[in-house]
Amino acid sequence: MGEGVDRDRADNVMSPITILGLAGSARRGGNTETLLDWCLAAAADGGARVTKLSLCDLDLRGCRACDACLKDGHCIQQDDMQRLYPLLRSVDSIVLAAPVYAMGMPGVPKIMIDRCQPFWGLKYVLRQPLLEPGRRPRRGAFLSCAGTDLPQVFEGSRRTVRYLWHVLEVSPVGEALYPLTDRKGDILKYPEARDLALEIGRRLAEPR
Ligand SMILES: Cc1cc2nc3c(=O)[nH]c(=O)nc-3n(C[C@H](O)[C@H](O)[C@H](O)COP(=O)(O)O)c2cc1C
Repeated sequence: MGEGVDRDRADNVMSPITILGLAGSARRGGNTETLLDWCLAAAADGGARVTKLSLCDLDLRGCRACDACLKDGHCIQQDDMQRLYPLLRSVDSIVLAAPVYAMGMPGVPKIMIDRCQPFWGLKYVLRQPLLEPGRRPRRGAFLSCAGTDLPQVFEGSRRTVRYLWHVLEVSPVGEALYPLTDRKGDILKYPEARDLALEIGRRLAEPR
C-alpha cells in the first residue's frame, strides 16, 4: 500500500458513483424493467452516473468453451460483450433485472453471465486481480418477477446471480422479487415495489 492507493482513495471520494443497469427481459417496459427504471431513477437522484442497457438489444453469443480466456483473461468472440466487459469490471454498482423463465435465468442474461468466464479465469487460473487495489467496494442488486408463486420460483436465478456477484467482486445490497406478476404492468399491483426499488437505487448510489 502506498501513495498510489492513497491517491485512488482520494479519487474515489471525488468521482461520482457509476451504476450499470442491465435489463434482462425480452419484453421492453415490462415488470422487471419497470423495477429497474425506478431503481436507476433513485440512483441518479442520489448523484450516481447511470448507464442502462437492454441485453436483448445487444449481440450476445453463447460461450464456446474454447478456453482461450483462460490463457490471457480475454474473450476472443467479437460481439457486444466486448462493450460490456470494461463496464462490468469498472463500475461501482451493478443492478440486474431479469424475469424468471423456465424456473431460472432467461437465456440472454444467462449468456452474459456465462461470458464472464474470462473474469473467472483471470482470478482463479491466471491468479491476477480483477479490480484495481484501493478502488471503491462494489455493490449489486437483483430485481426479478415471475408469473407464478411456485415455491422456490426465484431460487434458480438467485443462485446464478450469487455466482455472478462472487466473480465480479460485488457485494449484494438488495433484492426485489415479485411473484404473480405475469402480465405487463402487474408489478403495479404491489404498492411497496416502487418504494423497495427506490430504496435499492439509493443504496447502490451511496458514496463510499
Ligand atoms: C419464455 C418464458 C418463460 C417463463 N417461465 C416462467 C416460469 O418458469 N415460472 C414463472 O413463474 N413464470 C414464468 N414466466 C413468466 C414471467 O416470469 C413473467 O411474465 C414476468 O413478469 C416477465 O417479466 P417482464 O415483464 O419483465 O418480461 C415465463 C415467461 C416467459 C416469456
